[in-house]
Amino acid sequence: MVRKAICGRLLEFTADPAEAGEENSYRYIADGAIVVEDGKIASIGPATDLPADMPVDHYGQALIMPGLIDTHIHYPQTRVIASYGAQLLEWLNKYTFVEEQKFADPDHAASAARFFFDELLRNGTTTAAVYCTVHPQSVEAFFTESERLNTLMIAGKVMMDRNAPDALTDNAERGAAESATLIEKWHGRGRQLYAVTPRFAVTSSEAQLEAAGALLREHPGVYMQTHLAENRAEIAAVREQFSWSRSYTDVYDRFGLLGSRAIVGHGIHLSDEEIARLSETGSTVAFCPTSNLFIGSGLFDMARLREGGVKVGLATDVGGGTSFSMLRTAAEAYKVLQLNNQNLPALKAFHLMTRGNAEALGLTGRIGTLEPGSDADITVLDASATRAMAHRMETVKGNLAEELFVLMTLGDDRATRATYVAGERLYCAGR
Ligand code: GUN
Ligand code: ZN
Repeated sequence: MVRKAICGRLLEFTADPAEAGEENSYRYIADGAIVVEDGKIASIGPATDLPADMPVDHYGQALIMPGLIDTHIHYPQTRVIASYGAQLLEWLNKYTFVEEQKFADPDHAASAARFFFDELLRNGTTTAAVYCTVHPQSVEAFFTESERLNTLMIAGKVMMDRNAPDALTDNAERGAAESATLIEKWHGRGRQLYAVTPRFAVTSSEAQLEAAGALLREHPGVYMQTHLAENRAEIAAVREQFSWSRSYTDVYDRFGLLGSRAIVGHGIHLSDEEIARLSETGSTVAFCPTSNLFIGSGLFDMARLREGGVKVGLATDVGGGTSFSMLRTAAEAYKVLQLNNQNLPALKAFHLMTRGNAEALGLTGRIGTLEPGSDADITVLDASATRAMAHRMETVKGNLAEELFVLMTLGDDRATRATYVAGERLYCAGR
């Protein structure tokens, strides 16, 4: 039994500030201690209550929070970030589909996975919903590294059987068989969870989407992730390929892909009818602001989706997205919403990055809070990490919401002091 404490200023969310009101949405302990035991949070409380012989990691004035969660990211695209001058379909063909072919090589996949996890942890992200490539070996490399680190990850093999280079396509039968083998090996093994991952309707035949639906029925508890209504040309292609469909959302709906474990990326251009179906099925839409701006896809309408009862998560979408940092992502989310006369208060943003995204992924109780009994995935953030942040923080006199707003607006990986995964400190700034 390994017991230790992590001390500093503790912050966790107990409810959505947009529903409960800001003052009823969080728990804050100024001089707090999290006691960690066997990878779980054993208790939280004032640091003064700690037994004198307890080993302690001290973080002074830094904020100690649940690990950040990213609801949509592509690990094979770490070298696609910052690819110039294209909107979605051209961007995929010109950059992404070229890079993803390299993942046929298991050594390449393994080194990309190592880079990816290093980058997530230095950004304070401890859980993500991750796309691999069409190659089963890319999934093996990913889960092998995740298992080594003991991170809680959701990931899956991309399924695509048309409108992509031959080297990146499977077929309905093979895609399903390879996915089934990966599900049996990895879903629920340690902290690993599987997502059936048809890339998007454009690159799957009806037979493949049918097979994806069958996989979900045969393996209850696995996730489904795909892209939806990101770009106008993409939507036109889907309308042409699935001429019988009522809408883009209807394509996924007809094949049984929507539901409480479905995470669809983007959802920028949706009709009221589509929003109603996403809500009825309990599907989550991942809002990917840096990607939506960078690929020029459009402005996500968070208020409309939330009023429609749709669960919304926040995500980086690297490499369409331009940063691994959930803080940078929240900053861009704020700006996207500003352009639509909407807001994103800092408490709401931090709720979203922690408890909110955990709820969106159906992982409440396991991650996203500091509740005793939950997994000890913890990030330590410093709102004075850079010279400009420290300078700005001189005007913040004990106002938590303002401090958090500085952190999300100016922060990036430099704001991460430490990241813990299942109680182990896997990242520590300066080491
Ligand atoms: N739609 C289908 N594939 C992708 C992808 O890799 N990134 C983004 N942003 N959109 C997609
Ligand atoms: Zn994506």
